[in-house]
Amino acid sequence: MCPSKFIVPVADRVANLPPYIFATVFQMKEKALAAGREVVDLGVGNPDSRAPRNVVAALNNAIDDHSWNCHGYSTFRGLPQLRRAISQWYGNRFAVTLDPETETLPLIGSKEGIANLMRAYLNAGDTILIPTPCYPAYFGAAALCEAEIAEIPLREENGFRPVLSDVPADLAAKARMLLLNYPNNPTGGVCDLAFYEEAVRWCRENKVILVSDIAYSELGFDDDNMPVSVLQAPGAMEVAVEFQSLSKSHSMAGWRVGMAVGNAEAITALGRVKSNVDFSLFGGIQMAAAEALTGSQQVCADNRKVYEGRARKLVAGYRALGWNVPMPPATMYIWARIPASYGDDDFRFISELFEQTGVLLSPGSGFGAYGRGYCRTSLVTDDAGIARVLELMQKAEIKWG
Ligand SMILES: Cc1ncc(COP(=O)(O)O)c(C=O)c1O
Repeated sequence: MCPSKFIVPVADRVANLPPYIFATVFQMKEKALAAGREVVDLGVGNPDSRAPRNVVAALNNAIDDHSWNCHGYSTFRGLPQLRRAISQWYGNRFAVTLDPETETLPLIGSKEGIANLMRAYLNAGDTILIPTPCYPAYFGAAALCEAEIAEIPLREENGFRPVLSDVPADLAAKARMLLLNYPNNPTGGVCDLAFYEEAVRWCRENKVILVSDIAYSELGFDDDNMPVSVLQAPGAMEVAVEFQSLSKSHSMAGWRVGMAVGNAEAITALGRVKSNVDFSLFGGIQMAAAEALTGSQQVCADNRKVYEGRARKLVAGYRALGWNVPMPPATMYIWARIPASYGDDDFRFISELFEQTGVLLSPGSGFGAYGRGYCRTSLVTDDAGIARVLELMQKAEIKWG
């Protein structure tokens, strides 16, 4: 680390943040763009779609509505209209009953909420169990609490679900929080209600908060087997907080709308942290989010079809190259072992691929220790973009098998 030129160095908790591998990837991209090279970025999971018209209209209506003023500060706990909409959506989608007053909380994106829940419950030195590979923001959020991160493996042979009975007793005894994310970023792995029931039992036995992140719940590709909520499991309300997001399901990533639902005491604690660091979402966006949750859900079905179609095309194309990747059952990602000739060196694979083609994938080690040897493709380009990616990759001198 270079010595600080500023009058005071940053706090230890910032200095000790884990290295962010994607920063290096980002630099590779910037350098190539500055040199005028063609770059196709399939590294980041930033949806290329737009929010539905009814949602945009609701925002505009709120801005122009003179019967109330959405331009001032909102209330700390968010508008009652949005809390009711969250409760209604959970009822319709999962048959889960939530008290809008005490068991729901609007968030400025689920990333913020997850980090602030950690702040509410993790003291310095406390242990958090993070199954990996995972959404990398979990690491930074836990590190800012100066918590001990214990990675537990998500293995392909177990459908990328953790085997909780394998968690050593001493680790289970000291853990305070377990993070589950299904459908899973980056693996695309899914889980069923039986898995959540077991996780709830395990967390109750071990006195561990179960944090469920279902940011991709609307992007499951099997219409007859849609992803479930942890709150459907008996007893979940006693131990669980679930985070949902409109970013991927409703193509609203830049709007920053998420929600926390679940145990009322934990929701209050999260609200307490938030009331000290933010002022909830812009009122216009809250009205638009309420419309997104209570209006037509066609956008979710459309997004599912788009991502599934892209996954099928890219998987078929990769296989035609000789790279045998699995078709994901959900999400907007393809998670695959890197070609055997690279061993476990995912960073070397994605760097060489980028150098030769301009196609940027994410290195698996950026998602945690158990991501090593894999890479992630984000399905954020349309059919023409996919055709171009495959054309570029065909020319690369890479041994895919
Ligand atoms: C698993 C997972 N959780 C949460 C988020 C953050 O979502 P939001 O936009 O609601 O902050 C992401 C974003 O990529 C994600 O992949």
